[in-house]
Amino acid sequence: MAAGRKFARVTTRAVVARPKLWRFFRGPLRAQFDALAPVWDEILTDEALAPLEVALRRVETAPARALDLGTGTGKAARLVAERFPRAEVVGVDLAPAMVEEARRLLSPDLAGRVRFEVADAAALPFGDGEFDLVVLLNMIPFFEELARVTAPAGTVLVAHVSGPSTPIWTPPETLRAHLAPLGFARFEEIAAGAGTALLARRTVQE
Ligand SMILES: C[S@@+](CC[C@H](N)C(=O)[O-])C[C@H]1O[C@@H](n2cnc3c(N)ncnc32)[C@H](O)[C@@H]1O
Repeated sequence: MAAGRKFARVTTRAVVARPKLWRFFRGPLRAQFDALAPVWDEILTDEALAPLEVALRRVETAPARALDLGTGTGKAARLVAERFPRAEVVGVDLAPAMVEEARRLLSPDLAGRVRFEVADAAALPFGDGEFDLVVLLNMIPFFEELARVTAPAGTVLVAHVSGPSTPIWTPPETLRAHLAPLGFARFEEIAAGAGTALLARRTVQE
């Protein structure tokens, strides 16, 4: 477990600094999370979701379509769907076993508007600007791709359940530095429970 956390941390740092390195980490990281899928939903307690919950309350406009990148067993996707009862929500994950768990854990009342797919956040199977809200909970940010699928006036929300102690952790200043040149502004940092979150809103060019 400790080795896995360390590997996740090293991967995040390397890939955020040099996205081209992702091809070397992709296979081992997928294997790691495939193995964790049966227990993942229990590892992450409901209290750990506090930063995501608080940040979702600060999203000004209810999204029509939301994307949860690195959804794991789908906790964030379910929370987004509950918070925005009219939104269509897509959760994607690299690890097929995680997606299988996410589908299994989805309650019938959400099944009509929440779906899960296996996909790589570094090369998403979606069109430009398809999502009004893009959420990452404990997930490596692939900045170019997440910006590409975010709508012109959309919002990106990056949350970490344990702040800097989260294995997959990207500091807020790094998030801001990568997101600002991609058209994001109006950043808001949030601390809640043991975790942190950052909201970034895209400004529409006149
Ligand atoms: C630390 S877990 C977080 C899962 C979930 N967001 C949560 O907090 O419960 C990271 C997840 O991101 C997935 N992941 C990592 N890199 C990915 C990528 N490039 N594309 C899609 N999913 C990825 C992993 O398979 C894993 O399920």
